[in-house]
This record gives sequence, structure tokens and C-alpha cells, in this order.
Amino acid sequence: MTQRTVIDLERTWPDGWRPDAASVVASGVSADLHDLGDGRVVKLFRPAVSDDMIAREAEMSALAHERGIAAAPALARGIAGDLRGIVYPLVAGTTMMRWIRQHPTRAGEAIDRIATAQAAIHKAAGGAGRRLKDVIATDIAYGPAPAAVQKAAIERLAALPDGEALLHGDYHLGNIMTGPDGLTVIDWSKAAVGHPAADLVRTEMLMRFGIGPDDWITNLWRDWAARRLKRSYLLAADVDPAAIDRYRPFVALAWLRARSAGRNRAFRAYLDAAMKRAGLPPL
Ligand SMILES: Nc1ncnc2c1ncn2[C@@H]1O[C@H](COP(=O)(O)OP(=O)(O)OP(=O)(O)O)[C@@H](O)[C@H]1O
Ligand SMILES: [Mg+2]
Repeated sequence: MTQRTVIDLERTWPDGWRPDAASVVASGVSADLHDLGDGRVVKLFRPAVSDDMIAREAEMSALAHERGIAAAPALARGIAGDLRGIVYPLVAGTTMMRWIRQHPTRAGEAIDRIATAQAAIHKAAGGAGRRLKDVIATDIAYGPAPAAVQKAAIERLAALPDGEALLHGDYHLGNIMTGPDGLTVIDWSKAAVGHPAADLVRTEMLMRFGIGPDDWITNLWRDWAARRLKRSYLLAADVDPAAIDRYRPFVALAWLRARSAGRNRAFRAYLDAAMKRAGLPPL
């Protein structure tokens, strides 16, 4: 079944099953996950999430799975009353975020596995999905940078080499699960097609400046983890390190559009250095 098809989700639920507080197994920013009790979960989205985003998550998770990536694939997408949801296989295990907190001395090994898995995703063809360059250009245009900087950046971005790779778009420790079956990548709502370097930069920024604790010890850890991830990624991926530097200023400018307040000074230094290196006007 194509994930474009919107079905009546209640027909896929076990007899008499209803979502309630007791069936919630996890909660994210965009949804609650409910256990269907039969090896499946249903992700029920909050009203603020757009239909487009839900459709993309369903389609791209199924596509990644088809391409042989360790992704939890959408089994069905639909509505149940006024709720919108996606049914997934229940993934045994925990997020990499929690695993690393439980096994801090094994963080390096975990980061290496995550990096290798990201390189594997990038070896798959992304198909006909939205282009990451378009997403970045839109985020720059609607972001806070001065108009002249936006214009220069969007022109320069258009001239960068593009790619056809499958890109997750939100590859962080909370969107990778680990369990008896190995790693499983979830939450494909921001997936796109394009150059792997852009997705690696996004992961570097999520690691260093993304939501989460930002006390100084954690920040040292975050910066170390981002460096290690990039190094391991480059060993496994077929990507020119120079392409990562070339994409960094544009991904960072795009990040300004919906950025959380954490680590402002460090992020600003990161952005300024990337802009300077690319010969772009300062903000
Ligand atoms: N297929 C699954 N099997 C088991 N647990 C899952 C599954 N998918 C998601 N989860 C759990 O639910 C949590 C939230 O899932 P997900 O990241 O898809 O939701 P989200 O609301 O989009 O997240 P975010 O908070 O990143 O926006 C995950 O961190 C994970 O613990
Ligand atoms: Mg998530």
C-alpha cells in the first residue's frame, strides 16, 4: 500500500482498543506513541503538525526501509476520528540518547555506529522527494538574516554541487533507537533528497546546538561527539570533507529560522566562521 493512501486507522486497531493515557509508551514534541499491544505502535500527531509533514514521514520511512536502511517503516497512515496517525512496528530497545546516558563510557563506540549508519543512509537514492536545497533556501529566506545576506547566500547555495542521496534531515540521538535488532532510525518527517554533506552538517549542529542540556560539561561532550561523528562518518562515507565546509554556512543560516535559544554565543561563532570561510558578508 502506498503511504499516500489515507485510511481509517481504527480498522487496523485490535478489537476494542482505544488510545488512552495508559497506552502511551513515549511522547515527542510532535506526537504521542501508543502501544497497540500486538507488536505495533501508533504515532498520534498533535494538531500543530501539518498533513504534509505526516505524509512525508510515512512515505520516506517506507522508502528508506525499501532501500534496505534500518528504518522503522510506516505500515499505515490515516485518521481516527479527529486524530491523525501512523502505525509502525514496535521497535524494541531505547533511544541512543538514553543508551549513552546509561553507558557513558561507551559513548565513542555508539557515536561511531551512528555515523556509519548515517553514511549508509546517504548511499541510498532519495527518489522524488523534496530537495534539501529548496528547504534550505526557503528557511534562509524566512529567517532573520538581512536581505542582502539572504540574497547572496541563496545564490551561492544554488551554485553548490547537488546530490541525489536520501537524507534524514533530523538525525540526532533521540531519533535513533538501539536494541536487540541493532540500530533503527525513526522520525523521517524532515527527510529530503540532496547532497549528503548538508545532512551531515545538520547532524553536527543538532549534536552541538540542538535541544537538550547545555551546561558547560555537556557542551564539551557535545563538541567532542560532533567531531567524533564527523570523523567516523568520513571514514564510512564517500563524501569530500570540503563539501561539508561548503554547505556549512547555508545550513547554519537556515537553522537560524527556528533556532532554540541555547548556546547562542557558540552558535554565533560557528555561523560567523562558516560565513567568513565562504567569503559571505557577515551578519
Ligand atoms: N516504532 C517505535 N517503536 C518504539 N518506540 C518508538 C517508535 N517510534 C518512536 N518511538 C519512541 O517515541 C519517541 C518519539 O518518537 P518520534 O521521534 O517519532 O516523535 P516526535 O514527536 O516526532 O519526536 P521529536 O520530539 O523528535 O519531535 C521516540 O524517542 C521513541 O522513544
Ligand atoms: Mg523525534
